[in-house]
Amino acid sequence: VKSYDVIVVGSGIAGLFTAIKAAETGRVVLVTKSQLEESNTRYAQGGIAAATFVDDDPALHMQDTLTAGAGLCDEEAVRILCTEGPDRINELLRLGVDFDSQDGELKRGLEAAHSRARVLHAGGDATGAHIERALVRALRAANVDVYEHTYLVDLVVQNHAVTGVSLLQDTGLAFSLHAFSVVLATGGAGQLYRHTTNPAVATGDGVAAAFRAGALIADLEFYQFHPTALAVGDTFLVSEAVRGEGAVLRNASGEAFMTRYDQRADLAPRDVVARAIATEMLHQDGEPVTLDATTMSGEFLSQRFPTINNHLRSLDIDWSRSWVPVTPAAHYWMGGVRTDTWGRTSLAGLFAVGEAACTGVHGANRLASNSLLEGIVFGGRVVRHLVAPGEANEPTFVDDVQQLHFANAGQAVPDKSDVRDLMWANVGLIRDKGDLETAYKQLQAWSAPSTLINQEQHELRNLITLGRIVAAAALAREESRGAHFRSDFNPCDPSQQRHRAFTR
Ligand code: SIN
Repeated sequence: VKSYDVIVVGSGIAGLFTAIKAAETGRVVLVTKSQLEESNTRYAQGGIAAATFVDDDPALHMQDTLTAGAGLCDEEAVRILCTEGPDRINELLRLGVDFDSQDGELKRGLEAAHSRARVLHAGGDATGAHIERALVRALRAANVDVYEHTYLVDLVVQNHAVTGVSLLQDTGLAFSLHAFSVVLATGGAGQLYRHTTNPAVATGDGVAAAFRAGALIADLEFYQFHPTALAVGDTFLVSEAVRGEGAVLRNASGEAFMTRYDQRADLAPRDVVARAIATEMLHQDGEPVTLDATTMSGEFLSQRFPTINNHLRSLDIDWSRSWVPVTPAAHYWMGGVRTDTWGRTSLAGLFAVGEAACTGVHGANRLASNSLLEGIVFGGRVVRHLVAPGEANEPTFVDDVQQLHFANAGQAVPDKSDVRDLMWANVGLIRDKGDLETAYKQLQAWSAPSTLINQEQHELRNLITLGRIVAAAALAREESRGAHFRSDFNPCDPSQQRHRAFTR
């Protein structure tokens, strides 16, 4: 069995950045289930938010993040995100990320719930792809072993400490790696839902493996739905930055309806816009609403949003002339493996960064374009705190902790689409006790595949496990807060302003 100082699992911005930094001091291996470039990061359009301009201040960025987080952000984590963010952006520039600029000045966009235009972008709306490309190049130049097409099956636990990972390759080869520290940067689980902006790899493998290993998992009830995924063809993100440039949402009657829901109208926080769209869709027999970008010229749209423009053109849609049908879709998980601000989890030897982690930085609702920033800020910090052999590393968390007991009733094994349909219908944007209980019971009744010999079966097991935790967490939170909306417990309840964690 090969041994390293650090194993990093996942190759989005958090995993790549962590591995590049960790390689400056130790022996590092990075494991990823697909090719290096494939991850949620690759599809990020809007960009990366940081207070880097003279009219901005980390304190303003912090205030916007706390407001979006609906009372559940950990203030210290947010302060770290917003104050360390600009330095990490400079590191990205040094690593070769070519953010868009004009006359020597970085360009910037505006997104919902930001009080300043502070979102840096690259290639117009291809920010994630540009970041991935630069970081993969830097990783290849660094002293890091890489295993692509290698799937994380489970964490290896010895004497209550994580000491390695067990892996499975596409060829069927199963093997383990050992290390003093394992960093999960495995991203979210958009594949839990029928409609998602996430690629097929987003099945929450790291969070599920951490749960099985006994780590605390927190805030899983907070799943952010992006308001505007394209409602024709395959699900495709239409960046919030399009509304930042002036596009307006309209219902079937042509009404710009957002002014009825919030004084910030189309630039209200994501959960508000996503629920308003879902409500409008209910009033128009489930028909999608439309995004009106026709006040912008075809030339501007193709330059500012080349990725979206090309995609729409491939569907014969000219969005400078006609409105685009859009619908909400699962986008980002605020919860994950509970960590402190150094990425340390409740298990010795185990760390988590990026979307797989719950640092508390996003609270109940992430501010747009804060997630790429989270990946580099906390990726940078985790490296500063990786354990030396024998050093204790478990922080204490003050969350409410519940134990979950899973009973497999052994009902016929579903496939992923059964889980995704159930989650979309019963554990989606608008929730209530009856729907949640139905989903929880069904998820408890479904057993994981009885043989676990390929990646597809492991992913299905993980989606069932994670679906159960999301449903249990959504049932337990009898209030509406941020992305979690209960039609039967509508007001926000100040007595529930705390994280809820689950453990096996
Ligand atoms: C978008 O471009 O609208 C997505 C940005 C984000 O999710 O932070």
